[in-house]
Amino acid sequence: MRSDMLSRRAALVLGALALTVSPALAQESGGKIKIGVIGGGNIGGTIGGLWVKDGHEVMFASRHPENLKPLVDELGAKAKAGTPEEAIKFADAVFLAVPYKAYPELSKEVGPLLKGKVVLDAGNATERRDGELYAEAQKNGIGETSAKYFPGAKLVRAFNAANYKIFAKAGANGGKDRAGGRMAIPIAGDDPQALKVAEGLVRDAGFEPVVVGGLKDADKFAMGSPGFGHDVTAPELKEKLGLAK
Ligand SMILES: NC(=O)c1ccc[n+]([C@@H]2O[C@H](COP(=O)([O-])OP(=O)(O)OC[C@H]3O[C@@H](n4cnc5c(N)ncnc54)[C@H](OP(=O)(O)O)[C@@H]3O)[C@@H](O)[C@H]2O)c1
Repeated sequence: MRSDMLSRRAALVLGALALTVSPALAQESGGKIKIGVIGGGNIGGTIGGLWVKDGHEVMFASRHPENLKPLVDELGAKAKAGTPEEAIKFADAVFLAVPYKAYPELSKEVGPLLKGKVVLDAGNATERRDGELYAEAQKNGIGETSAKYFPGAKLVRAFNAANYKIFAKAGANGGKDRAGGRMAIPIAGDDPQALKVAEGLVRDAGFEPVVVGGLKDADKFAMGSPGFGHDVTAPELKEKLGLAK
C-alpha cells in the first residue's frame, strides 16, 4: 500500500477515534461533532446555522419542532429538527438557546439527560421577561443559577453577550469578513474539558473565544454588566475585562 494512502487511512482512524473518545479531542483535531441546539429562534438559529455551515451536524429542538422545518430545510442535510429529548440524545454537545424563564420547565423535562453533557448556555435573564428568574440570577449569579437548574451538566456560558444580528454578521464566512479580525466571545465555565469543547465550537462558528474564568465569573459579561455587548477582537475584550493578554 502506498504511504500517502496509509497516512490518509491513519488520519481517518484517528478522526473516528477522536469522535468516539471525546468531543474535546474531536474539537482539538478539527473534527466535527453532533450538536443539539435547544431553541431554534434568534440565537439558536443563528449560531446553530453557523455550525452547520462549518460542517457540524446539528439537531434543532423546541416544544414545536414542526415549526423548525423552514430553518432546517434552508440549512440542508446536516440540519434536522426534533424534541429537546431527541436533540440531547443525539448530541455530543448542547447549546441552550431558550428564554431564561423556560429553564425550570426544561430542567424538569430533560435535566437528567443533560448530566455529564457539555452544555453551552446563552440564556440571559431579563427583568421584564423572566421575573423571578431574573431576581434569582441577580442574587446568585447567572452561571450559578443556570447550574442550579441543570445540575451535573458541564456548563459553559457562551454567546450570551451580544445580539444575534451582530453574531450573524461577525460570524459570516467563518469570521473572515470582519474588519480588524474575528469577534471575541467571552466564555466561562468550571469544567476544563467543557471549556476546551466550547472554545473549539466558538472558533468553528467564526469567532475567537476569550475564557473569562469559572461560572461565577460569568457575571462579568452578563446582560447589563460592563463586559456585555462588545463587538471587539480578543485583545480588545481582554483589555475591557482586565484579563492578561
Ligand atoms: N436574541 C438575541 O440576540 C440573544 C443574544 C444572546 C442571548 N440570548 C438569549 O438566548 C435565549 C433565547 O433568545 P432568542 O432571542 O433566541 O429567543 P426566541 O427567538 O424567542 O427563541 C426561543 C426558542 O426557544 C424555544 N423554546 C421556548 N421555550 C421552550 C421550552 N420550554 N422548551 C424547548 N424550547 C423552548 C422556542 O420555540 P417554542 O416556543 O416553539 O418551544 C424558540 O425556538 C434567551 O435566554 C436570550 O436572553 C438572545
